[in-house]
Amino acid sequence: MEHSPPIFHVLMILVLWTVVTAAFIETAEGHRHHRRGGSETELEAFHYAAAGAGGCRAHVASLTDFGGVGDGVTSNTAAFAAAVANLSKVACDGGAMLVVPAGRWLTGPFNLTNHFTLFLDHDAVILATQDINKWSIIDPLPSYGRGRDAAGGRYSNLIMGYNLTDMVITGNNGTIDGQGETWWKMFRNKELNYTRGYLIELMYCKQVLISNITLVNSPSWNVHPVYSSQVIVSGITILAPVNSPNTDGINPDSSSNVRIEDCYIVSGDDCIAIKSGWDEYGIAFNMSSKHIVIRRLTCISPTSAVIALGSEMSGGIQDVRAEDITAINSESGVRIKTTIGRGAYVKDIFVRRMNLHTMKWVFWMTGTYGQHPDDNFDPKAIPVVRNIIYSDVVAENVTMAAKLEGIPGAPFTGICIYNVTAEVVKSKKPTWNCTDVEGVSSHVTPTPCAQIPEYPDRITHCPFPEDDLPVDCVGLEECSYWRTNP
Ligand SMILES: *[C@@H]1O[C@H](CO)[C@@H](O)[C@H](O)[C@H]1NC(C)=O
Ligand SMILES: *[C@@H]1O[C@H](CO)[C@@H](O)[C@H](O)[C@H]1NC(C)=O
Ligand SMILES: *[C@@H]1O[C@H](CO)[C@@H](O)[C@H](O)[C@H]1NC(C)=O
Ligand SMILES: *[C@@H]1O[C@H](CO)[C@@H](O)[C@H](O)[C@H]1NC(C)=O
Ligand SMILES: *[C@@H]1O[C@H](CO)[C@@H](O)[C@H](O)[C@H]1NC(C)=O
Ligand SMILES: *[C@@H]1O[C@H](CO)[C@@H](O)[C@H](O)[C@H]1NC(C)=O
Ligand SMILES: *[C@@H]1O[C@H](CO)[C@@H](O)[C@H](O)[C@H]1NC(C)=O
Ligand SMILES: *[C@@H]1O[C@H](CO)[C@@H](O)[C@H](O)[C@H]1NC(C)=O
Ligand SMILES: *[C@@H]1O[C@H](CO)[C@@H](O)[C@H](O)[C@H]1NC(C)=O
Ligand SMILES: *[C@@H]1O[C@H](CO)[C@@H](O)[C@H](O)[C@H]1NC(C)=O
Repeated sequence: MEHSPPIFHVLMILVLWTVVTAAFIETAEGHRHHRRGGSETELEAFHYAAAGAGGCRAHVASLTDFGGVGDGVTSNTAAFAAAVANLSKVACDGGAMLVVPAGRWLTGPFNLTNHFTLFLDHDAVILATQDINKWSIIDPLPSYGRGRDAAGGRYSNLIMGYNLTDMVITGNNGTIDGQGETWWKMFRNKELNYTRGYLIELMYCKQVLISNITLVNSPSWNVHPVYSSQVIVSGITILAPVNSPNTDGINPDSSSNVRIEDCYIVSGDDCIAIKSGWDEYGIAFNMSSKHIVIRRLTCISPTSAVIALGSEMSGGIQDVRAEDITAINSESGVRIKTTIGRGAYVKDIFVRRMNLHTMKWVFWMTGTYGQHPDDNFDPKAIPVVRNIIYSDVVAENVTMAAKLEGIPGAPFTGICIYNVTAEVVKSKKPTWNCTDVEGVSSHVTPTPCAQIPEYPDRITHCPFPEDDLPVDCVGLEECSYWRTNP
């Protein structure tokens, strides 16, 4: 492949993890200002922000170079596989971008490669095949021991990154459509023998950016970074029917240094769910989810949480920071869910500036969630829930301010709630219902339960970390490629 194929004229704008070495910065700088020929008006632009040590890519190809046909009918599984196999050869030579042009590109599951960008043009739609035989069975996640829907393995994920470094999925807001209806129907009818696949799964990956795309109708979860680190999800839209089963938005799972920002999610389940493995399998695997920041999220989740922690949390969840969260018509704002047998902990959870409208519960904690992978869980594995901090929350039209239920004999402690106003609609239910929880509050309306007493004079705020996470320091700059209109 040529360094710059005839139809692509490359303007390089540097993007880096700021933590990379000077050598990497020089390489990327060397690629700058490579724009050639043509004036902007004659050109079609592909802008994206890269987030890898290699910055923007040296090689560019189109799915059509590999026999892709965007008619919505022809299968592109072989074209994607051929493209990725071919472009993986230049991973160490500046990396590659694969452009999916306007069109409807039917495909089965495919894997990505290192130092790679998958770019979806504005009118590009990647359509997941509804032919179940095209979704091969892969091993269950080691930290779950079995599939989440059913024992044994699980169906492949549509787009999978496995053991990768420096990978970007982005575009001019192109779409990945999971065509999940057939899966939801089979799931509801209990016809599936294996767990449904996810739309995007990153497993053992680092330096990942997913941005400026729209995901619709996933068979199950949408974005699943697992055993991964340095993951940024920015400016994506996720849409699923609000009654579709388990269509969680973004689920960081045993992953660290994750930054989720400026996303809009409508989901049949949690908008964000942070997890880390299931009972004895998760305890043995012992990989936590930590250093996670969520900001400027807008969520609609009528049957579930805006941000959930658990219920699978057996590797531990620590240091989650969420701010500037808007939700309407959602069941709960923040929900912590765990159960005896999970072990590990959920601790140091900070949430501030939530604006919520029409909710069942603003805050919800459950220590008796149940749901075990099998009967071999350890009844002595009692999860610890500690240091849960909520401040500056306004909620309108809510049924109950909070339902906080810890574990008898192992209360959830260190809860701090400050400056929260919940406008509770008239109902027979208590506005607060607390069992086995301990904490303090200040400036909270309606008056909290006795377990979270108010100290308006003593408590002038609840803490929120002021330091930046390493993933906060990652600068995103633009890469731009220009293609002459054919
Ligand atoms: C695949 O890569 C090779 C070089 O490694 C190149 O010669 C060839 O043209 C590429 N194939 C396509 C379809 O681009
Ligand atoms: C998203 O797209 C906009 C507009 O093209 C671009 O300026 C921005 O850098 C992109 N952001 C990311 C994170 O890809
Ligand atoms: C993707 O990679 C994983 C891990 O190597 C493998 O199990 C799976 O079969 C691959 N999927 C496809 C569609 O090639
Ligand atoms: C992927 O990474 C995991 C964890 O580092 C390792 O156990 C596994 O062997 C790797 N697989 C491949 C195919 O490289
Ligand atoms: C991307 O497309 C979705 C679905 O059409 C739309 O809701 C969203 O507003 C678009 N985002 C941007 C930034 O244009
Ligand atoms: C599940 O297994 C049963 C029994 O082997 C089989 O009849 C059925 O077709 C399978 N379902 C699916 C969706 O593959
Ligand atoms: C999990 O790993 C941490 C160190 O990362 C260790 O301190 C802890 O004891 C381990 N937990 C279990 C249950 O093995
Ligand atoms: C308030 O919430 C109820 C559901 O509890 C909903 O039916 C109603 O439309 C909401 N009212 C407003 C003004 O949003
Ligand atoms: C309370 O929270 C609201 C909403 O986030 C904010 O506007 C206000 O400044 C906060 N007040 C104090 C005293 O922190
Ligand atoms: C409060 O919650 C507990 C445990 O979840 C439940 O058993 C009890 O009925 C609730 N109390 C009221 C008054 O709703």
